[in-house]
Amino acid sequence: MTVINKSSGVLSGIMAALVLTGSVSIASDTPPANGDELFDWLKAGNYKSWVHESKQHPSAGPHPQAVIAYLNSILDESMASGADNHPQGAAAVKELFDGSGNLSGWAVSIKTDADSAAGQGWYWYEMLGTTVDSRVVADGNGVPLCFGCHTPGNDFVLIPYPLK
Ligand code: HEC
Repeated sequence: MTVINKSSGVLSGIMAALVLTGSVSIASDTPPANGDELFDWLKAGNYKSWVHESKQHPSAGPHPQAVIAYLNSILDESMASGADNHPQGAAAVKELFDGSGNLSGWAVSIKTDADSAAGQGWYWYEMLGTTVDSRVVADGNGVPLCFGCHTPGNDFVLIPYPLK
């Protein structure tokens, strides 16, 4: 911040209000829909406490090589209720594993709007790799590569439920 003058008292008051407002949304287990923040969030293993598949299995899609899907509480409750339209904040993380069974990246979907809007209401993210040299395959709402194949799903969610 370059603004250090007599009005900084007022400004820091506004900043504090913003920080407080921001912290309210963190109460949910919805990941950040922003590539840089999300990468750190994934590396920290924040999704590890979510309900998930019991073991690695080959993907029925193009996700390499084996996968384990995790659902946040909002998506899990929505799937369990049989809803065909998930609430805003619903999210899934898929761990991707290489041929040796080592973690090799993540695919993520987050419903950022109440309306799925033909895929635009979902944020899509895929990272191949777990280091700074990793390759971002998708990072944004309505990525055609992702939602195209996910369109036949239950509100764009393809994993069979209940999770195995
Ligand atoms: C050609 C089809 C296809 C494409 C393209 C595709 N997926 Fe998937 N995706 C699947 C299938 C099938 C599953 C169900 C689990 C499995 O077998 O891998 C899945 C599961 C997922 C899941 C777990 C939640 C769910 O919907 O089941 C996430 C998250 C995900 N994909 C993200 C992405 C992202 C991000 C992209 C774009 C980079 C993408 N997918 C592109 C087929 C696809």
